[in-house]
Amino acid sequence: MTEGEPTPLLVEDIQTERLTLTALSLSHSAGMYRLWSHPDVVRYSGKVTDYDRTEIAMPASAPAESDKIIDFWRRAAADGWGFRWAVVERASNAFVGHIGFNSLGANSEIAYHLSPDHWGKGIMSEAGRAAIDWVLINNPDTVLEAFIEDANAGSIALITRLGFKATGTFNEGAQCYRRP
Ligand SMILES: CC(C)(COP(=O)(O)OP(=O)(O)OC[C@H]1O[C@@H](n2cnc3c(N)ncnc32)[C@H](O)[C@@H]1OP(=O)(O)O)[C@@H](O)C(=O)NCCC(=O)NCCS
Repeated sequence: MTEGEPTPLLVEDIQTERLTLTALSLSHSAGMYRLWSHPDVVRYSGKVTDYDRTEIAMPASAPAESDKIIDFWRRAAADGWGFRWAVVERASNAFVGHIGFNSLGANSEIAYHLSPDHWGKGIMSEAGRAAIDWVLINNPDTVLEAFIEDANAGSIALITRLGFKATGTFNEGAQCYRRP
């Protein structure tokens, strides 16, 4: 490998009590379209772009649009700076959402989206604990971050349950939460 060439991330599968986390791929296209075409899921997502930074209109209007999000995270993983796992319910083998990191390093920013028919069952708490364990095993000194709008009560409850605290600093209308 030549100097300066990115190191692709190895996105490992993780099993939890109810879930499998596995690298997001085009095999999750139908589930990703159901997720990203739902107004309640995209309400606080901010601007969504493809890898060339062209905006994708939300909610997604066709699978080809949400496929651009899959492509974005596959290319981010290949370039070594971020990725998404698909969150799959083990009992049904159904794709229910995704979770991963918008950045990895001294600071690692976690992000997640779950289909509304699975909200309120502790699914993202379970996925979030596994994602945090994974990043801390790989980088024990990383400072975990999340950026959440004050109106997004469900996400604030989740991130608080996962041990993050509000910092009072904002970026583009979203407050930074940190752990520890
Ligand atoms: C934020 C989001 C991921 C939360 O998903 P979730 O799975 O409902 O979150 P949690 O894992 O925290 O679930 C907690 C709820 O499940 C309940 N629950 C049931 N069984 C549980 C269990 N075994 N463990 C933990 N909680 C459990 C809790 O009591 C809690 O209920 P409450 O909401 O009535 O207080 C989801 O609302 C979402 O996708 N929102 C849209 C996308 C979004 O905003 N993403 C974040 C952008 S910053």
